[in-house]
Amino acid sequence: MKIWELEDGSKDEEVSALVEKFTAGEDVTYDEKLKDYDVLGSIAHVVGLEEIGVLTSEESSTLQRELAKLLEEEIELTAGDEDVHTKVENLLTQKLGDLGKKLHTGRSRNDQVLVDLRLFEKEKVFEVATHALDLAGSLTDFAREHVHTPMVGYTHTRRAMPSSVGLWAGGYAESLLDDLTALEGTYELIDRSPLGVGAGYGVPLSLDRELTAELLGFHQPANNAINIMNSRGKYEFELLSAVGAIQLDLSRLASDLIDFSEEAYGFFTVPEEFTTGSSIMPQKKNPDVLELVRGKSATLQGYITTLYSLLSGLRSGYSRDLQETKAPLFDGLQIVIDSLAVASPLVDGLKVNEDDLLSHFTGEVFATDRALELVQEGLPFREAYRKVKEELDEPHSSKTPEKEEIKDALAKRDHPGGPGNPGLDTLQEEIGSRRERWTAREEKFRRTLAELADVN
Ligand code: ARG
Repeated sequence: MKIWELEDGSKDEEVSALVEKFTAGEDVTYDEKLKDYDVLGSIAHVVGLEEIGVLTSEESSTLQRELAKLLEEEIELTAGDEDVHTKVENLLTQKLGDLGKKLHTGRSRNDQVLVDLRLFEKEKVFEVATHALDLAGSLTDFAREHVHTPMVGYTHTRRAMPSSVGLWAGGYAESLLDDLTALEGTYELIDRSPLGVGAGYGVPLSLDRELTAELLGFHQPANNAINIMNSRGKYEFELLSAVGAIQLDLSRLASDLIDFSEEAYGFFTVPEEFTTGSSIMPQKKNPDVLELVRGKSATLQGYITTLYSLLSGLRSGYSRDLQETKAPLFDGLQIVIDSLAVASPLVDGLKVNEDDLLSHFTGEVFATDRALELVQEGLPFREAYRKVKEELDEPHSSKTPEKEEIKDALAKRDHPGGPGNPGLDTLQEEIGSRRERWTAREEKFRRTLAELADVN
């Protein structure tokens, strides 16, 4: 039975089943993953109710103990259960009778689902950050190993300037750190407790929101009740957008690797375990993993758009439409986590083919270098530019330089951030300090929730 139903309510069973399936249907499969957070949120709420004298310490202890037992149990939800919040309360009432019915005092499923989601999201952010830092580490190691290995830089997909494998790989590592900076901003929003705002307008009890926030490991309680309710879906949009930036990097990296490992370039060899064969063409080693990383980015973009669209049509306050934010959130986060998880070992196994990289350094790649040489001889840049352009038009004008000349050209680009000075030491240090920061946050989160679960 639903917690909001009256016991003598007569109803058409067929219609009820239809409505149940429509309203709860797939959503309960996501709610199953929220069970532990729902229970922990409930324990914190019970402690808070005891603190303000709504529950006796005996009632509170019994409720907490029974709730903690649910942490050990696997719960399967069906549409008939409505959602995880109803299920947990019903289970408690089955075991404790009238006492179970006190659990929901001063709480709404609206703030409850927010608590569950914020805790779930924090855990997922830790997972994303760990994987993203692993990949940034792999890319930085790779960049350091090949810091001086020449690689043509392209613009408009055409050969442009001398560059290096170190700059290319270090660029992706730096980009991931940029994304993590944005993700930290979103994390700060999520790291505030929604518990205590009820349906979105507060409740007529002097709830100790500071206490429950602290018990749940939130940095602080979020303040305005309506703002908190309106943050449902909006924070999810921000979170998915932040991790979407990571997926964008991954997609671009995948595209580069697909192209640059193709025979026409041959710069890199993708480790064989990350390729798949063809059912008909025996020679094929297809970059399916990379193609799927790219393809899943399109799926993720769809989820981000879904969240935005859902919210942009809504008035303030809770509406059930918001339940539809769950699937894009869960599935979208999983795409990024899975893509990061394959990308890091793939980069670790990448092979660099220096001869193929060098073979793309035809003379015209050095046209800008040549123009700047003329500038050093005293020619204004625009004239030097024209002169080199004219030289390039002459047949056989641009001879392919020797490897040493190429390396010299790279070394000359020694300004910060250039191929001759890509700042990989600083990058590596930064990855280390970010890792410490995220690990400390995660450990605190786990410790706090373990303490809350440790009811006796
Ligand atoms: N399953 C619901 C959701 O995800 C829980 C909140 C239901 N609240 C309500 N007032 N019907 O949004």
